[in-house]
Amino acid sequence: MRVLYNFDEVIDRRGTGSLKWHYSDDTIPLWVADMDFKAAPPILNAIEQAVQHGILGYTKPTDALYDAIIEWHGSRYELPLAKENILFSPGVVPSLALMMNVFTEVGDAVLVNDPIYAPFMSKVEQNGRTLITSSLQESEGKYHLDLADIEAKIIEHDVKLYLVCNPHNPGGRVWTADELNAVLDLCKKYDVAIVSDEIHQDLTLRGHTFTPFLTLAQGYEHKVVSLTSMTKTFNIAGIKGSLIFAKDVALIEKIDAQQHLNDEYELNMFAYAAMQSAYNEGGEWLAQLLAYIEDNIEFTLEFLADKLPKIKVMRPEASYLIWLDCSAYSQDDEQLYDILRAAKVELNAGIKYGEEGHLKMRINVACPRMLLEAGLARMVMAFERLGN
Ligand SMILES: Cc1ncc(COP(=O)(O)O)c(C=O)c1O
Repeated sequence: MRVLYNFDEVIDRRGTGSLKWHYSDDTIPLWVADMDFKAAPPILNAIEQAVQHGILGYTKPTDALYDAIIEWHGSRYELPLAKENILFSPGVVPSLALMMNVFTEVGDAVLVNDPIYAPFMSKVEQNGRTLITSSLQESEGKYHLDLADIEAKIIEHDVKLYLVCNPHNPGGRVWTADELNAVLDLCKKYDVAIVSDEIHQDLTLRGHTFTPFLTLAQGYEHKVVSLTSMTKTFNIAGIKGSLIFAKDVALIEKIDAQQHLNDEYELNMFAYAAMQSAYNEGGEWLAQLLAYIEDNIEFTLEFLADKLPKIKVMRPEASYLIWLDCSAYSQDDEQLYDILRAAKVELNAGIKYGEEGHLKMRINVACPRMLLEAGLARMVMAFERLGN
């Protein structure tokens, strides 16, 4: 019998240490990429079983876990993986930082797109590399890569590494195989390594196809790494845990050696248990989650078109984050953020995602509909206060 999961259930997260719900008042948080839904029961059961067993000793990834990872990526994305292609890492952001030492030296140029999930920029700079950005171009309501600009920047700055975000956060693009092949051709031409953050892969929405970078990288596998995780997909970010995939033996050995420098190559036993059950038994929960998210996205787009028509909305192709151009309401980034906070609804300020985020806001719609409706109503109140 098909179990129906209840994504309408509102669960009070205040006072739990939740990053998203840290407020002492009744602010509605529609910001950080964390969903207000209970984790899939198979994952909770797997963690409970580990606790019931009672011994929480040093734990290694089992063959059953590798099989679960291999099956998920093979059957969903035609990404053929073997155990030797897989490493574990405490998080995708820690892996992004690690890749600086795998592919570059201090001072080298690293390319990212603008806008981009902020750690793409901060990890480059904190590690003493030179941050180079290539702005995405907006047309027909979505972002496009500017290949001519990317090539010019690679040549001008002698770029060594390109950090790709696919699906893209915050713009929601699922880059097509053609777009990724064009990036690959450029990187091959100038010997630039590619690290593809694919953490939003499983949240690809109806009508779009996610292409893992590694499926295109034949002949260039010594320079391509992909990073992903079950934490975003299954809303278990507090568990921590992620994966690094690479197909080239020498490259995997290099990453592994780099991880061992700080002894950061293993996860805690709950992360292993959660990952295995997510990939083996989480498919049905994910299908129902995506249906709920699609409905929330439609609802939000219709609501904004009706009540705040001057906001220019970018329809996401993946995930539950929607990129909003609010420039019709204010010319001041701080004012935009503050006016929403004053109305007790929190969104991410677009400017944190680079210069292209000027006068943009990012809204997270992965919450029970009731909360979303209340948060959107507060947005209307906030913008009405601005009076234009
Ligand atoms: C593109 C992207 N990469 C990485 C992360 C975070 O990954 P982790 O929690 O595994 O460090 C996020 C979280 O929102 C993200 O959007």
